[in-house]
This record gives sequence, structure tokens and C-alpha cells, in this order.
Amino acid sequence: MKNFDFHAPTNTLFGKDQIQQLPKVLNQYGKTVLLAYGGGSIKRSGLYDKIYELIGEETTIVELSGIEPNPRLDTVIKGVKLCKEHQVDVILAVGGGSTIDCSKAVAAGVFHEGNPWDFITDKAVTIEKALPIVTILTIAATGSEMNGGAVITNEETKEKLGFHSRLVIPKVSILDPTYTFSVPTYQTMAGSADIFSHLIENYFNQTPDTMVQDGIAEGLMRTVLYYTPTALKEPTNYEARANLMWASSLALNGLTGNGKFGVWSCHPMEHELSAYYDITHGIGLAILTPRWMEHVLNDDTVERFALYGHRVFDLEVNDDLYITAKEAIKLTYDTFVDWGVPMTLPEVGIDESLLEEMAEQAVHHSNISTKAYVPLSVEDVLKIYTNSL
Ligand code: NZQ
Ligand code: ZN
Repeated sequence: MKNFDFHAPTNTLFGKDQIQQLPKVLNQYGKTVLLAYGGGSIKRSGLYDKIYELIGEETTIVELSGIEPNPRLDTVIKGVKLCKEHQVDVILAVGGGSTIDCSKAVAAGVFHEGNPWDFITDKAVTIEKALPIVTILTIAATGSEMNGGAVITNEETKEKLGFHSRLVIPKVSILDPTYTFSVPTYQTMAGSADIFSHLIENYFNQTPDTMVQDGIAEGLMRTVLYYTPTALKEPTNYEARANLMWASSLALNGLTGNGKFGVWSCHPMEHELSAYYDITHGIGLAILTPRWMEHVLNDDTVERFALYGHRVFDLEVNDDLYITAKEAIKLTYDTFVDWGVPMTLPEVGIDESLLEEMAEQAVHHSNISTKAYVPLSVEDVLKIYTNSL
């Protein structure tokens, strides 16, 4: 295990009706709130009205609405402008990863001279300060509610890139599973695929002796496998929604990734797909993950894949580890099929025309060619894309 510095300071208020604490929570930070949200699901679910009912009288609310899935730089800039104009004290992000990520970029952008794209693209530009963020999560997926990461799309340059800062980790996150009852089927499976992918990305890593991280990841993977079919069949099943919600936060708050070296494999490949084609992040991951697994299965990795099959899918370990490893990869693929995920790129509107360009960008924008679990060249990425057609 490598040295690490674990920092997960988000005050997490989990469970039914935790929103009652919202006035007290926001009061700590001030009276002018930027209410950030997406395309309107919070209005349809009644959450928007509830927020006004709870804080509308005592607070000045400024709205940043219409935050897109795969949030755009233009929207971040709009949010920064609103915060400066109205001297906003705190951002209340209500929604999923897209709304929370956009809010993080706005929070940091307020104190940055110049375009927020600077601190997203240039590691030398440091974030010095950020507005406090409070979130109300409405979909179990990214873990953004409990981490300092954010991913923003620049439509002009066709780039979707992430940044990370401790200063934008949400101060408080309200996690009420009932708010995810209205998440549609497609987004529910995308969210689960994203959680699962975060765990896979951390699990398949070359660092030895990380039983704690791996044991937690295995438990969370089993949780996602167990509860996703229930959430899909019975969207208002509290137990399923609650377990998926908590799994989402724990999968990417450092618990399963700290103490390991290297970089993720499928996320950099997927971010190019969403940058070029604006597809749903979790769906792109589900399509790529089994193809990536097949591609990197070799004598060095076979033991790990067999262990994954044994611990996550309860497979008996065969003397021929390849048999167990291949069965585990097939079960991963079949799981996504069973959930209903469209498992090829053409089904989400991607043909072969830009695969080469996206493969080059995936390598250019990340360290997958040197630091991934199995290093991936442009040719490797292209092969994984092609196998996903
Ligand atoms: O915009 P609204 O109307 O709210 O609808 C959203 C959106 O259309 C809808 N939705 C969310 N909650 C709902 C609901 N519909 C009905 N009822 C509800 N309760 O679902 C759609 C997707 O929302 P979005 O926020 O885009 O989903 P998600 O949480 O999956 O976020 C995806 C974004 O996060 C990034 C992804 O790349 C993508 O841009 N990621 C962020 C990470 C992080 N910050 O740590 C890590 C991830 O790996 C990921 O890259
Ligand atoms: Zn993800």
C-alpha cells in the first residue's frame, strides 16, 4: 500500500426528510444562495417548491438553471457571473453529478481572474479559494456529492476534462434516497454502471497489499449488482435506492482509491465519447468496460480477474485461471445487458468515423499510455473502441 492523505470532510445528512435541516445548514454560510439545478426534474418532483418553502423567506435565492448533463463551460461562466453580480455566499447544488460538477467550477471560478477553463486545463493554475457548496443529491452515480472532482465540457474545443480541488468538496450533502425514486430507467442503469466502474477502476490496479480498499470495493460492487435490478423494477424501493445512493458516495470519496498508484483506464476513453457525442457517461462506461477487460486480460492480469470473478460473482476458481477470468468478464457484460444497457457504440449514435481521433485524444488528455493498470497506446484504445462497435 502506498502512502496517502485521506480527506473526506463532507457532512453527509442521509435519509428521509433530512432536507428539514437545510435552513440551519445554509445559515452557516450566509443569506444569498445560488440555487443550481438541471433541466427541470427538481420542479417535476416537487423538490424545487420544497426548497423555496424552507428557505425562500429568509434567503435571497439566485437561480442557475438548465445545467446540462455533461455540463458546459458556458454554463459555468454564466454561474460565475451570477455569483459576482449578486455577491452569492453559498451554492446549493440540487441534482446529479452534472449540476454538482458545474457548481464546483462556478465556486472556484468566482475567485479566479480569467476563464475557468484555465484551472481545468492547466495544472499550474491553482485554485486558491472557492465558495462553499451544499448539495442535495437526486441521482446515485458519480460520487461528486462527496469528492473534490468535477468534469466540464468545452463544446468549442470538443474537450471534456476534469479538475480536482479540496476546496470544492461539498461542505454538506443531503442524501435522501426518496429523491431518486423519479430517476428514469436509463439514468438508473447509467448511474449504477458509473458506480460500478469507479470501483472497477480502483480495483484493477498494480499496487500490492490493498486488502482494505479491495474488500470495500468488492462489497460495494456486490451491493450495486444486488440492488440495481430492484431499483429498475421498483423505482420507489427505498432499500434499493438507499443502498445505491450510499454506494455512489463511498465508491469515489477516496476509500477505495487512496493508497494505490496509477490512473484509471475506462474513464479517459469514455470522456472522449461524451465530449464528441454528448452521450450519457455511465452508458459509455458500460459499453467500454467489458471490452477493456477482454483487451487487458493476459498472464499478468489473469489472477486479478479470476479473483474478481470469485469475490464479486461467487465463481469457483478453476485451476485454469483464464476460465474463471473469462467467465467473470462475460458476467460483467451480461449484467449490463440484463439491466437493459445498449451495449454497442452505434446504439448510442457513434459510428467508426471519429474513433481514431478520439483514441488519440484519450491518450493525449490522460496518462493511460504510461500509468494505467495495463498501459494503453492509441492503437489499444482504438481496438477497444472498434470492439465496441
Ligand atoms: O437535468 P435534470 O432535469 O435534473 O435531469 C437529469 C439529467 O437529465 C436526470 N435526473 C437526475 N436526477 C433525477 C433525474 N431525473 C428524474 N428524477 C431525478 N431524481 O438525470 C439526467 C442525468 O443527470 P446528471 O447529473 O448528468 O447525471 P450524473 O449524476 O450521472 O452525472 C454525470 C456527469 O458527472 C460526471 C460525468 O462525466 C458527467 O458529466 N462525472 C463526475 C464525477 C465526479 N465529479 O467525481 C466522476 C464521474 O466519473 C463522472 O465523470
Ligand atoms: Zn464515472
